[in-house]
Amino acid sequence: MIFIVTIISILTISSSLSEFISRKDSQNLPQAIIIGVKKCGTRALLKFLSTHSSIAASSTEIHFFDSFNNFQHGLQWYRKQMPITKHNQYITIEKTPYYFIDKYTPLRIAKTLPEVKLIIILRNPIIRAISDYVQIRNRHKIYPTFDELISYTNFTQWTPVKIGCYMKYLHRWLKYFPLKQIHFVDGENLIQRPWEELEYVQKFLNISINIQEKDFYFNSNKHGFPCIRQINGCLGSNKGRPHPTILEKTREKLKDFYSKCNAQLKQLAQIDFSWIE
Ligand code: A3P
Repeated sequence: MIFIVTIISILTISSSLSEFISRKDSQNLPQAIIIGVKKCGTRALLKFLSTHSSIAASSTEIHFFDSFNNFQHGLQWYRKQMPITKHNQYITIEKTPYYFIDKYTPLRIAKTLPEVKLIIILRNPIIRAISDYVQIRNRHKIYPTFDELISYTNFTQWTPVKIGCYMKYLHRWLKYFPLKQIHFVDGENLIQRPWEELEYVQKFLNISINIQEKDFYFNSNKHGFPCIRQINGCLGSNKGRPHPTILEKTREKLKDFYSKCNAQLKQLAQIDFSWIE
């Protein structure tokens, strides 16, 4: 009898030991990637998601799949760039907004991580263009105004404007990924009611809804942008910058340009965000 009890105890101890070892912290390839879009709130989304106990989020943009020449380093290099995923975390996530517009990335991700969940955050392309402009202008002492740039005949070729015709880039992704593998976040609603967008993302990632309305507050020092209730829960000073006022004719010109893009985006992505007319 004593012999049998001893054998059972040894087996129990060794099985929980092997479970402990196999569940140890590790660097994993991502189960989800925020692939863009630049200036749509990608940092805010990642910051908020990183507070979820089941998520390990990369703090830097890795640029593995795009034309930044990191792809040649191989998959082990990519894995090494990943955050430590704790034994009780299910999702490792990275964000590189450049992936969305890079022509090499869709096929590379499809071949390397065919099951990965893709997250794309989109916002009103006119606001996105202004945001991009503000970032570029901050690096220059002298720079034309936004209105001047849009008054040029070839304004649609200017990258901050071009990127906002999202459907052109989305086409490439849909060659390799079914819509059900892609989740679209409304970047405008992420500013107004972040908990709603976070709820949809948590559902998409199949994790418990831990991040909720009570976890957010709106900070007047951050121009009313939402912050999450934790230490350093607001984004840094390079996010949520004041935007210049633009002329009505500039807005109308952009509205006109984006109307066709938005209509096609709505069909292609099967989304109905309030800013898509
Ligand atoms: P602005 O700084 O032009 O306002 P990304 O992180 O993709 O570069 O996007 C930056 C944009 O995210 C910011 O652009 C801001 O409008 C938006 N954003 C969304 N939620 C935010 C938040 N909680 N705090 C600050 N900026 C936020």
